Amino acid sequence: MNESQAALVEAAHQHLYPNYKQPPLVLARGRGSQVWDLEGKRYLDFYAGIAVSTLGHGHPRLTRAIAEQAAQLIHVSNYFFNEPNIRLAGELCKRTGMQRALFCNSGTEAVEAMLKLARRYHYVRGAQDRYTVIAFANSFHGRTLGALTVTGQPKYRDGFGPLTGVKHVPFGDVAAVGQALDDHVAAILVEPVQGEGGVVVAPPGFLEQLRALCDSSGALFIADEVQTGVGRTGRFLACEHFGVQPDAVALAKGLGGGVPIGAVACRERYTEALPPGSHGSTFAGNPLASAAALAVLETIDQEQLIAAVQQKGERLGRALQALVARYPDILQQTRGLGLLQVLVVQDGRDIMAIHAALRDAGLLLTVAGGNALRVSPPLTITDQELDEGISLIDQVLRRVV
Ligand SMILES: Cc1ncc(COP(=O)(O)O)c(C=O)c1O
Repeated sequence: MNESQAALVEAAHQHLYPNYKQPPLVLARGRGSQVWDLEGKRYLDFYAGIAVSTLGHGHPRLTRAIAEQAAQLIHVSNYFFNEPNIRLAGELCKRTGMQRALFCNSGTEAVEAMLKLARRYHYVRGAQDRYTVIAFANSFHGRTLGALTVTGQPKYRDGFGPLTGVKHVPFGDVAAVGQALDDHVAAILVEPVQGEGGVVVAPPGFLEQLRALCDSSGALFIADEVQTGVGRTGRFLACEHFGVQPDAVALAKGLGGGVPIGAVACRERYTEALPPGSHGSTFAGNPLASAAALAVLETIDQEQLIAAVQQKGERLGRALQALVARYPDILQQTRGLGLLQVLVVQDGRDIMAIHAALRDAGLLLTVAGGNALRVSPPLTITDQELDEGISLIDQVLRRVV
């Protein structure tokens, strides 16, 4: 290991709070769908910083927008309007079919805002006892206490309780939702594809039935598209695959292409729920993050990335399917949508060892759901790079056999 990389890793172990478990390498620069560590070793980026780097690394449109905005005005707070943020609100409403956009700085904050919006919508209408949220087993919604409360996985929740005000039901089980739906339910919160849960796609008809239950009960249909939104699945929102329009949707991750930003887009009807003073954040909607998000959205249009994701998603799906057929002892199945897909590893196989071997071979991807290798590359990844990554997986699995 190069001196400076080793020294930095040592310093990290000394001073960084150890709530993550990084391998001993320091990523130093990136270009497109490739990154390099401090020793100059190249990695193919099949994870995009956990589905964040929509345009890859160093995209000239994004870096120019950030540099120009930084020189112009970085921050003003919400005491005043700023132009990039006003324009971004319009673009987001246009793309989501909503009428209002509210900004924050991360995915967990977007979920928090959506939960607050749902509860307070009922509150201002006099239904003060309508506060429960129906959410799903195996879901992930973030780490702040509200988002953690609705997260349906014990491994994230353990030790932080009490986390109350939520009813978790099995994902895909409409009858269980119907049973849980009483007069106290403010909203049903769902990921159209459970990302951290292992890229589990909502079964056919499920979201449509949730929409119908919300329409008949008055509960809000709130969608967490922090991971699936902004084109990742081959539509701007994954909900579009199911023909369902949520009442509010949370976005973050890919929206800023790597610059932290979160947003909630909602229908006009919910505008009264959060009047001035009821919700906010110092950094929310700042000009820098808004300019970055605008550049991401404009580039998605100009480079026709949503259509590209559909085509590349099919290519990726076929290649992953071929790997499952070639290595049935190691791989169970593949699933996902667009450029969010997984290879599910057979029980008893050491997924972390495979993950580490892939990294050593020069391929970065993530583990989701405990048993799935998740592929979530930049939306700008080329066919050639996709093929290269698949071939690296093939080589590593051949060795595992
Ligand atoms: C569906 C979903 N919601 C919320 C979050 C939390 O986002 P953040 O890490 O930006 O707080 C994530 C992050 O993985 C996510 O996948």
